[in-house]
Amino acid sequence: MKLFFAPLQGYTDHIYRSIHNEVAGGIDEYFSPFVRCDGGTIRNKDLRDIAPESNCGVALVPQVIAAGTDELVPLLAVIEQAGYSRVDLNLGCPFPLQTGRGRGVAALANPDKVEQMMQELKRHGTLKASVKMRSGFTSADEGLKTIEILNDFDLEYITIHPRLGKQQYKGEPDSEVFRQMKERSRHRTVYNGDITSPDDIDRIASLFPDLYGIMIGRGLLARPTLAKEWREGREYSEGERLATSLEMHRRLYEYACRTLQGDQQVLARMQAFWEYQKPLVDKKIYKRLMKTASLRNYEEAVRSLE
Ligand SMILES: Cc1cc2nc3c(=O)[nH]c(=O)nc-3n(C[C@H](O)[C@H](O)[C@H](O)COP(=O)(O)O)c2cc1C
Repeated sequence: MKLFFAPLQGYTDHIYRSIHNEVAGGIDEYFSPFVRCDGGTIRNKDLRDIAPESNCGVALVPQVIAAGTDELVPLLAVIEQAGYSRVDLNLGCPFPLQTGRGRGVAALANPDKVEQMMQELKRHGTLKASVKMRSGFTSADEGLKTIEILNDFDLEYITIHPRLGKQQYKGEPDSEVFRQMKERSRHRTVYNGDITSPDDIDRIASLFPDLYGIMIGRGLLARPTLAKEWREGREYSEGERLATSLEMHRRLYEYACRTLQGDQQVLARMQAFWEYQKPLVDKKIYKRLMKTASLRNYEEAVRSLE
């Protein structure tokens, strides 16, 4: 069974992905946070993030988000130009900034748009596509209807996060809805949602024995060794996990100091690194890492973790 690192805007940029791949590993494919086209323009920052030279040695699937073919066409063009043979279409983002424009999970309420985007993907024969979706925008009927549309197209697999868009991250992922969608789909299916331990991976794998893969997001931010632990069949001690986080930190901090401007930018990047790792870090030190406004103070706090 495959393990994928979910895209997390603001966290899993190319440097995080490369460092995770080198230090922790255990992942079959990494996904870029979505690339979008606003008013005909694609941000340089996003293009740099998916540039092959920024992703050496990492199996990367670039992800795009679009409200329809107008936005999708230029996105596919830059991905093809960069030399990729894979693309992932985001039909799951619940953030109002995106859904308000008809993108992400909002597209599930608009079957014609989904169909048109799938036709467009089909026209790009060199790109193999996958889709990442939720179970619906406002109801699970929308997810099931989308599955029927997707059945008419060739896809590598579909990843399903079984929550509705309107739930954002509230409530539990609905494994019954996931089962229904998986049964209706003719595609290989990947499960996504709230996986935080090797036991969680085993639980989902035994609920759905013919699953193609599991995609993990926040669980890997919190426990970068999670995929590796599962593959090795043994849980790491807190000490081993902290050692891995500190090695990732060392590399990420060095990169942040070299490339970002000013203490505040560096601190913001590093605080995002620690944010989901709260349970691994002593309470007082965590507070110091997250609150400090000076790099000297920050470095001292990190040293006290070693
Ligand atoms: C801060 C944040 C940013 C995210 N950015 C993206 C994104 O760019 N593309 C995407 O498909 N999903 C994005 N997601 C959703 C995750 O990929 C994933 O589907 C979700 O967090 C559920 O999985 P998890 O419980 O394993 O984290 C984001 C989620 C969070 C919390």
